[in-house]
Amino acid sequence: MSKIIAIANQKGGVGKTTTAANLGIGLANLGNKVLLIDGDPQGSLTAALGFDPDAQSYTLANIFADVINEQNDIKNKGIIHHAEGVDLIPSNLKLSSLELQLVSIMGRELILRQYIETVKSDYDYIIIDCQPSLGMVTVNVLSSADTVLIPVQTSYLPVIGLQELIKTIGNVKRQLNPKLEIEGILITMLNKRTNYAKEIMELLKNSYGAQVKIFETTIPRSVKAEESSTTGESIFKYDKRSKVAEAYGALAQEIGGTNV
Ligand SMILES: Nc1ncnc2c1ncn2[C@@H]1O[C@H](COP(=O)(O)OP(=O)(O)OP(=O)(O)O)[C@@H](O)[C@H]1O
Ligand SMILES: [Mg+2]
Repeated sequence: MSKIIAIANQKGGVGKTTTAANLGIGLANLGNKVLLIDGDPQGSLTAALGFDPDAQSYTLANIFADVINEQNDIKNKGIIHHAEGVDLIPSNLKLSSLELQLVSIMGRELILRQYIETVKSDYDYIIIDCQPSLGMVTVNVLSSADTVLIPVQTSYLPVIGLQELIKTIGNVKRQLNPKLEIEGILITMLNKRTNYAKEIMELLKNSYGAQVKIFETTIPRSVKAEESSTTGESIFKYDKRSKVAEAYGALAQEIGGTNV
């Protein structure tokens, strides 16, 4: 049984892409077959895994177009293999123009789901990195997913912005994807020493803890995480003894440890 996890937050720079890459590779390190999908026209996940977004000739935008045009030979087309054992569907800016074209398409929210149905039996996990918006591509991702993992930074405004995201997830669940659940809220870039971070964590627990799981595992702020995203390697390869590697390893265990 495969599980499809969207990594989403319309707030920018909260650690979505870093989490997609390292959770994906963390799950692969536990013996799972993992497909990563870059759902962001910025191509950050593609770049973080060491591929040049602009050099990719077949991307997620082509997959959308092929599904719309009822091409039936798209399975495995455009899947790139990464040295650390995960597969990737890349993205680049073409996804932005594609997103605009979706407005006039019938069934526009469910295009990605049609594609994922064709590949999901090949994987234990499909992890989809979302762009920082709740536009039509993100709605497609939420319509395809089993769960949503929400990375959050411990500062005031991002925590407040969660309400809008949780509402959108609820709307998608009601109207498009009844099985959709929230996997949990993941605190990223945490500086445990500050009182401010503690206050925000309390606020998170009081505001959302009853509705949504907040992961035990938190991701510490560390320059190692930033550095690793420029090398094309996961944190496990870049510095496996770092606190961030330990944290993403624990997150992979928390989510997928029972699968192996
Ligand atoms: N644990 C961490 N410690 C320090 N820096 C981090 C950590 N995680 C991510 N970063 C850095 O913070 C920046 C934003 O992270 P990332 O790109 O993962 O966020 P994002 O939510 O995907 O952003 P966007 O909304 O633009 O897609 C990047 O430069 C990344 O390298
Ligand atoms: Mg990103």
